[in-house]
Amino acid sequence: MRAVTTEPTSLTTALQARIAQAIGAAGGWIGFDRFMELALYTPGLGYYAGDLPKFGMLPGSGSDFVTAPELTPLFGQALAVQVRQALQQTGTREVWEFGAGSGALAQQLLDALGDAVQRYTIVDLSGSLRARQQERLAAHAHKLRWLDALPEAMEGVVVGNELLDAMPVQLLVRTGGVWHERGVALAQGAFVWEDRPSPLQPPIPVAGEHDYLTEIHLQAEAFVRTLGEKLRRGALLLIDYGFGEREYYHPQRHMGTLMCHRAHQADANPLADVGLKDITAHVNFTGIVLAAQEQALPAGQEWQLLGYTTQAHFLINCGLPQAMERAPLAERAMAAKLLMEHEMGELFQVLLLGKGQPWDAVGFAQGDRSHRL
Ligand SMILES: C[S@@+](CC[C@H](N)C(=O)[O-])C[C@H]1O[C@@H](n2cnc3c(N)ncnc32)[C@H](O)[C@@H]1O
Repeated sequence: MRAVTTEPTSLTTALQARIAQAIGAAGGWIGFDRFMELALYTPGLGYYAGDLPKFGMLPGSGSDFVTAPELTPLFGQALAVQVRQALQQTGTREVWEFGAGSGALAQQLLDALGDAVQRYTIVDLSGSLRARQQERLAAHAHKLRWLDALPEAMEGVVVGNELLDAMPVQLLVRTGGVWHERGVALAQGAFVWEDRPSPLQPPIPVAGEHDYLTEIHLQAEAFVRTLGEKLRRGALLLIDYGFGEREYYHPQRHMGTLMCHRAHQADANPLADVGLKDITAHVNFTGIVLAAQEQALPAGQEWQLLGYTTQAHFLINCGLPQAMERAPLAERAMAAKLLMEHEMGELFQVLLLGKGQPWDAVGFAQGDRSHRL
């Protein structure tokens, strides 16, 4: 039997060949959303589909970036306050987590919520993370299940931490006053950018005539609409970096927000080291809320905007400062990063949408910023 190695170089090469094939099959050009989808999610080869460690605290662990639940369990404990209230308010006992990463948040929520949760379902495009999650969550195995496809009908509280930022985006570029879609082509065996005139435009006008690069988020918006159809009762809690559309499409943000992460270093070139680094874009939260609110749904099942605020406000409302007082010093220092303005406190936003009648959500009691959307 021949040993199968996952040597990063060969893995990248195989993925590049697969993407090159896709470009050829599409007539020489694919939109960036398709490129991002292939780079991150091609089965067995994409960044999220492979065995790279990805999430962790330090580059020494082989990880590329750190997320809030990886920093400290106090994150999940605070989130559990909101999830518990949402379960009570919607009369449901199920949690659905999309993009569960290493399983850290699932563990924190399951530990904190106890009997309030009867079933915890993990949905992830990355099959390779499942084994890692199963091992970590063994103590809660009787409540857990993993799904690759969504059922016709769902109920419960849906959670996604840094989920939307990992969904493929389309790139739009204004040059000479004309909007183009930026895609990927091949030149001399390498990936190159190629812009094509396009009827697509940002959701609001971008003042000025200057050259401008940005993203639109049709997949993330479609994700919310799919949930809108399937979720009969419950709520959707999303935590991610991003802004409302006026800030997103501000004339000065002319370089967009697309970013790659590898070994805790950020760079802006997704065409290099394909499959070996994360590719991500900020979230336009206005687009997410509009996708939900403009959806035609049966009476009583319409989405309600229950709150939108910064991660710092949300976690304070959910009692993080009190939990920090009881925690050891090292834990407190980690939790402080979740709140600090120049770390994750201001850049990360929390959005809560509910189905049916609106209710007052604890996480947004102070500092709600829904008016900024
Ligand atoms: C940046 S990671 C965040 C992981 C984890 N939530 C955390 O906070 O550590 C994004 C995750 O979302 C998953 N993902 C992206 N699109 C998805 C989708 N449509 N459905 C389910 N999972 C998805 C990816 O596979 C990846 O595991």
